[in-house]
Amino acid sequence: MQWYTLFTLILAVPSSAIVRFHCSQLVTQRLDPLVNPGLIPSSHVHQIVGGNSFNATMDPKKDMPGHSTCTTCQFGDDFSNYWTATLYFRAQNGSYKRVHTIGNNQFETANGGLTIYYMQDAIYTSNQSSKVTAFKPGFRMFIGDISARSLEQAERFRQLTYVCMDTWTQRAPESIHFPNRPCPDGITISQRFPTCWDGVNLDSPDHMSHMAYPETGTFESGGPCPATHPVRTPQVFFEVVWDTKPFNNLTWPVDENNQTVNPFVWSFGDATGYANHADYVFGWKGDALQKIMDTDSYFNSTGSGARLPLQTIEQMNNCTQAPIVTEDIDGWLTSLSGGYQSQYS
Ligand SMILES: *[C@@H]1O[C@H](CO)[C@@H](O)[C@H](O)[C@H]1NC(C)=O
Ligand SMILES: *[C@@H]1O[C@H](CO)[C@@H](O)[C@H](O)[C@H]1NC(C)=O
Ligand SMILES: *[C@@H]1O[C@H](CO)[C@@H](O)[C@H](O)[C@H]1NC(C)=O
Ligand SMILES: *[C@@H]1O[C@H](CO)[C@@H](O)[C@H](O)[C@H]1NC(C)=O
Ligand SMILES: *[C@@H]1O[C@H](CO)[C@@H](O)[C@H](O)[C@H]1NC(C)=O
Ligand SMILES: *[C@@H]1O[C@H](CO)[C@@H](O)[C@H](O)[C@H]1NC(C)=O
Ligand SMILES: *[C@@H]1O[C@H](CO)[C@@H](O)[C@H](O)[C@H]1NC(C)=O
Repeated sequence: MQWYTLFTLILAVPSSAIVRFHCSQLVTQRLDPLVNPGLIPSSHVHQIVGGNSFNATMDPKKDMPGHSTCTTCQFGDDFSNYWTATLYFRAQNGSYKRVHTIGNNQFETANGGLTIYYMQDAIYTSNQSSKVTAFKPGFRMFIGDISARSLEQAERFRQLTYVCMDTWTQRAPESIHFPNRPCPDGITISQRFPTCWDGVNLDSPDHMSHMAYPETGTFESGGPCPATHPVRTPQVFFEVVWDTKPFNNLTWPVDENNQTVNPFVWSFGDATGYANHADYVFGWKGDALQKIMDTDSYFNSTGSGARLPLQTIEQMNNCTQAPIVTEDIDGWLTSLSGGYQSQYS
């Protein structure tokens, strides 16, 4: 028995892994290799982060770390791609303007993007101890329903939420629709993926049914996985901060009864917020993610466990990709790219 094994047994120190790290913006464009593979342009605009081998097609056999020459993620071994739709503001005259993402708390100088968590147990506790199995090369998943416009349609998903920020630290409770008032310091969305895998399929036709939520309870409460999806994976969790500040002084639009309505709209037209969705294509190098989850890795791997190479924010920001689909996504637009208008039901 090696000395550290003995040490661990004596102190019963769990190997505790929760990582939180940022990935800067790689590219913003109309591509979606998961839902619309090969389609150029895809239906709506996405903001994408991660390895720069991102493309219109992403064959599950593709060697993502091998095909990338850089990544926008703080963990230099993470060549995964993570993406979400983009947000737009609709002015009272009906024109749209894109809302940009900004770096998150502790990643303020990042060029927009997403903050990613992988965790074993509940967020923000350092006593994580449950065993989780990292994803395999070729694994991908989607969460959310792009056609959801009502609470009933959105409720089957857990934890796809919005937080209205008065300041970084003063935050309204999470909601599953867009905030119904201006948010002085921006809107943060949270997107948590299911955590039970069928153990066989790297993907499925709806990109969701190879995954499931715990049968009872929640991931955070240690709820067991169903027999159909027995493999407990890390909780993948995105946080995206939308800089709504440039729009705070603009008048909100009104409906046909002159009632003020929410001005924020997803790039595919949803102005309710119920269609919040996220995409994930696994692309970590070798067993780097499993190593992180099996060792004492707190936040950015500063624990005593796996010490994987970290990039500086300058290096993360330096990795970018030119869009393949070139169209105006940043001017005042009369319709959203792909021809969408905001829909409230
Ligand atoms: C994307 O795919 C096209 C061919 O479909 C290829 O020419 C291009 O080099 C690829 N780009 C990247 C970044 O892999
Ligand atoms: C619509 O309103 C926005 C915000 O006030 C303004 O910047 C834009 O120029 C207007 N567009 C048109 C076509 O009037
Ligand atoms: C972990 O710590 C939190 C609070 O710090 C506590 O509520 C929870 O019960 C602990 N979980 C375990 C498995 O020890
Ligand atoms: C919004 O209005 C307030 C008060 O008039 C002003 O202080 C602030 O600079 C304005 N913000 C923007 C982004 O124009
Ligand atoms: C809405 O407001 C405009 C301008 O104030 C007014 O002309 C119009 O009659 C109002 N419409 C309704 C349905 O109240
Ligand atoms: C790691 O995370 C800690 C706490 O979140 C933070 O203070 C520190 O600056 C981070 N280190 C790096 C290299 O990002
Ligand atoms: C950014 O990229 C350029 C060109 O590839 C390179 O010369 C430079 O050293 C990079 N800077 C950092 C901080 O990685």
